[in-house]
Amino acid sequence: MLELHVVNHPLVSHKLTQMRRAETPSERFRQLLAETSLLLAYEVTRELPLKSVRITTPMTDTDQPELIEEPVVVSILRAGNGLLDGVLRVIPSARVGHVGLYRDHETLEAIEYYCKLPPLEGRTVIVVDPMLATGNSASAALDRIKLDEPAAIRFLCLLAAPEGIAALQEAHPDVAIWTAAVDECLNEVGYIVPGLGDAGDRIFGTS
Ligand code: URA
Repeated sequence: MLELHVVNHPLVSHKLTQMRRAETPSERFRQLLAETSLLLAYEVTRELPLKSVRITTPMTDTDQPELIEEPVVVSILRAGNGLLDGVLRVIPSARVGHVGLYRDHETLEAIEYYCKLPPLEGRTVIVVDPMLATGNSASAALDRIKLDEPAAIRFLCLLAAPEGIAALQEAHPDVAIWTAAVDECLNEVGYIVPGLGDAGDRIFGTS
């Protein structure tokens, strides 16, 4: 079953529009992405399981909720790192993994060139990548992450194309998706339209 959460918040929409503008420079783009990822992180961590713990306040002993354990965050290189800052500000002690994938420009297939993950077995994993385009990179990263047997996976992006959502749903129906917006389509070279261009280039100023 498709679990798609479109984060419908005026601040997220406003910041996304500024990021989409071709004239927005990298410095401002990075800042906007960090701010937006903080808001998205707030949503993607909704409904994380809690346990009751006995604590002592200055007034009395009381049972209060606490996270059972913090999720692990996995960034899909390189653009995923643009979302990482905001997510780590919300869950500062989360352990972080990286999966490096590049897109073969002819086949649009994802090729893995780097993988370093903390222990994932039984954990909730939040996978971050700003652009869910063809879904190839996301799918390949999820294939790799699932080898380590996490309990649950949430996929967090900034923009999703309908094609990427469908591909991810087909390959990984158990993975819920959070995004700030669903755009119209992919163009002939696999970029999201209207989109914001190449997220990695926009973040790192490499275009
Ligand atoms: N990756 C990007 O950075 N942008 C797109 O539009 C699609 C994939």
